[in-house]
Amino acid sequence: MISEAGEAAADDTLASIRSTVMRDSETLEGNSRVIQGYDFNQGVDYSEMIRSMITTGFQATNLGEAIEVVNDMLDWRLSDEPLVEGEDCSEEEKELSYRQSVRCKVFLGFTSNLVSSGVREMIRYLAEHNMVDVIVTTTGGIEEDLIKCLAHTYKGDFSLDGAMLRSKGLNRIGNLLVPNDNYCKFEDWIIPILDKMLDEQIAENILWTPSKLIARLGKEINNPSSYLYWAYKNNVPVFCPGLTDGSLGDMLYFHSFHKPGLIIDVVQDIRAMNGEAVHAKPRKTGMIILGGGIPKHHICNANMMRNGADYAVFINTAQEFDGSDSGARPDEAVSWGKIRGSAKTVKVHCDATIAFPLLVAETFAKKQQRSP
Ligand SMILES: NC(=O)c1ccc[n+]([C@@H]2O[C@H](COP(=O)([O-])OP(=O)(O)OC[C@H]3O[C@@H](n4cnc5c(N)ncnc54)[C@H](O)[C@@H]3O)[C@@H](O)[C@H]2O)c1
Repeated sequence: MISEAGEAAADDTLASIRSTVMRDSETLEGNSRVIQGYDFNQGVDYSEMIRSMITTGFQATNLGEAIEVVNDMLDWRLSDEPLVEGEDCSEEEKELSYRQSVRCKVFLGFTSNLVSSGVREMIRYLAEHNMVDVIVTTTGGIEEDLIKCLAHTYKGDFSLDGAMLRSKGLNRIGNLLVPNDNYCKFEDWIIPILDKMLDEQIAENILWTPSKLIARLGKEINNPSSYLYWAYKNNVPVFCPGLTDGSLGDMLYFHSFHKPGLIIDVVQDIRAMNGEAVHAKPRKTGMIILGGGIPKHHICNANMMRNGADYAVFINTAQEFDGSDSGARPDEAVSWGKIRGSAKTVKVHCDATIAFPLLVAETFAKKQQRSP
């Protein structure tokens, strides 16, 4: 039998354990969003479903936040900023109508495989409607866009056997298939253009750069299904600092034997690229970067020249534990001055082929639908 004193001691112990385990909470009511997913009793409303992602948790929440950051980026006007007394700015910059017309400068970056995929069509939409200001990609992101105007890319499967595909002249990019013939068509198309460019270099003293070459290819392809065609038409610069690492590099290599002498100057392009960020003022800058590698770093590095971007959305699958730049979260870029400490940022850990169409639907496309 337990004595009264023993019972009281047990009660005290229990109370102490309870107070340790069930520690009083600080209230989150009104400070944090309540977690709640989409209710299909409301019917199948995709827009509402995407909107509910922010309160769903995990990467759905990050995608929801990315949508908010991009909408903030697109909604920002210089007139949102107070005019600071004594600030060094022109008379024009003080006028309300001018301030209402100044928008955030949007840098869009993506890896090559996304142009091989159907994300190309979203990039084309953004370039067609002049919705982004600067584009950065890798070589495949240039040539795959052009090649798709000459021949198709097909659905394959991740498990298709490499040796079997090789014997059939088919190349695999993930679960996509690109016939070798596509690259032969590309060669037939591009070599005469490189010939003409070399002639112009000699006759007119033109100094070609990767971005000038890309604009020229956008003009020559003359096809509205190409994002490069629209970027050329809308004067959106497309930068590709690693221009030789892809089929385009193979073509430059072949061309250097066939008709040597074409010069492509990367130094002029680093001036132009960094200039896009340095001279962005009084605009804010925002970055939307799909995947890692060169496009991610090139955009971040240029923004370092202006003490950091004001908005940043990364969508990529790379992890940070290996110290890779691809995997780095926005906060690492803050430490370098590539993103401002005050910036709105988010990284969505997701395949961009899933996340980007949803993001575009709830941001750029929705705003375009609303405007006449
Ligand atoms: N179609 C092609 O992929 C292709 C074609 C020709 C040449 N190349 C060349 O291969 C080289 C490497 O390609 P790259 O620099 O474009 O990038 P990459 O394919 O090496 O990707 C870099 C990182 O981006 C992230 N990433 C890639 N795809 C993603 C996705 N779908 N969703 C989210 N994150 C993703 C991954 O973390 C990856 O490690 C480049 O020089 C390119 O020109 C590629």
